[in-house]
Amino acid sequence: MSIGSETKQNERDVASVTAAGNEMSASFLAAKERSDKTLAKLEQNPEKFTMLTGDRPTGRLHLGHYFGSVKERVAMQERGVNTNIIIADYQVITDRDTTNNIQDNVINLLLDYLAAGINPKKTMIFTHSAVAAANQLMLPFLSLVTEAELHRNPTVKSEMESSGHALTGLLLTYPVHQACDILFCKANVVPIGKDNLPHVEITRTIARRFNDRYAKKNPVFPQPAAILSQAPEIPGLDGRKMSKSYGNSIMLGATAEETAKLIKKSPTDSERMITFDPAARPQVSALLTTAGLVTGREPAEIASEIGNAGAGTLKAYVIESVNNFLAEHRERRAELARDTDTIRDILHDGNKRANEIAEQTLEEVREAMGMVY
Ligand code: TRP
Repeated sequence: MSIGSETKQNERDVASVTAAGNEMSASFLAAKERSDKTLAKLEQNPEKFTMLTGDRPTGRLHLGHYFGSVKERVAMQERGVNTNIIIADYQVITDRDTTNNIQDNVINLLLDYLAAGINPKKTMIFTHSAVAAANQLMLPFLSLVTEAELHRNPTVKSEMESSGHALTGLLLTYPVHQACDILFCKANVVPIGKDNLPHVEITRTIARRFNDRYAKKNPVFPQPAAILSQAPEIPGLDGRKMSKSYGNSIMLGATAEETAKLIKKSPTDSERMITFDPAARPQVSALLTTAGLVTGREPAEIASEIGNAGAGTLKAYVIESVNNFLAEHRERRAELARDTDTIRDILHDGNKRANEIAEQTLEEVREAMGMVY
């Protein structure tokens, strides 16, 4: 899931909407079916699965990230899946020419993961830039795809169009780099949003072609399945997509006061009676959906409880329930933030383990290719 900064989130949103395209397309349906089947198998035998997913360190996590992906990662970790999270720092420069704030973004990402229940003893957390051997897979992998295939990637296409810049070599080839992320640790499940589906598709192609070409007898790579989030998309406070650039997102790490202020100023309509009607009343309904998610209640039930008491009462309820829900997360986060040495140790440890795994896989690749000297 992409964590957009103010300037880029808009463009990412456009990109993901365009890339998602027609959800009923044959390849989407096939991916969805594979995702459901794989999840069913994973519930039976979690220990047979290796998960890898990650985020670009371009900003802070919000409630949408929590319900859309982080919660599911924690659940997989607790089920006994071998879980891995990449902080994709090299992917930051696919569409921007600065690494400003990257240290801060990486640390804050880590703080949110840990506060949300990611356990570094169970889940390996690491950064792209620290794992040279994983990056080296890029060379053989690039030889397994054609330029036409790279240009056909709908997510890359829309990211390029919305960037307004010339297509860089990295933007064109980052899906192959993402294949390196996934395959160096031989992940077979990759939880992602639908905009990342083409990247998992190319990863499957690369794994298959590598095995066919160099490792027929002893396949080196699995063909991973994308896992599509089960959670419904959580709208921003104004009913639009949750996005930092719209100022409509509840950040996990914000204070209770900041959250209250944000919810208070969120727009509603002039009708006093509160009803849950996402199509006709997107703003009121977004508030109800948010309250529903954090309390586990039905939005319609909350609406009828508030009834004629109006938007002010609704907002007071949303503020209270969101702040209750996030209280523990925020407390843990603040506590962790006091000890940056430990946070750095966790990242160093993850990077060290990732390097060991990547070296091992690269060795297998060298052997398969006859390049052991
Ligand atoms: N592309 C993902 C995003 O949109 C981040 C990412 C990088 C990723 N490498 C990955 C996701 C590997 C899944 C697997 O933010």
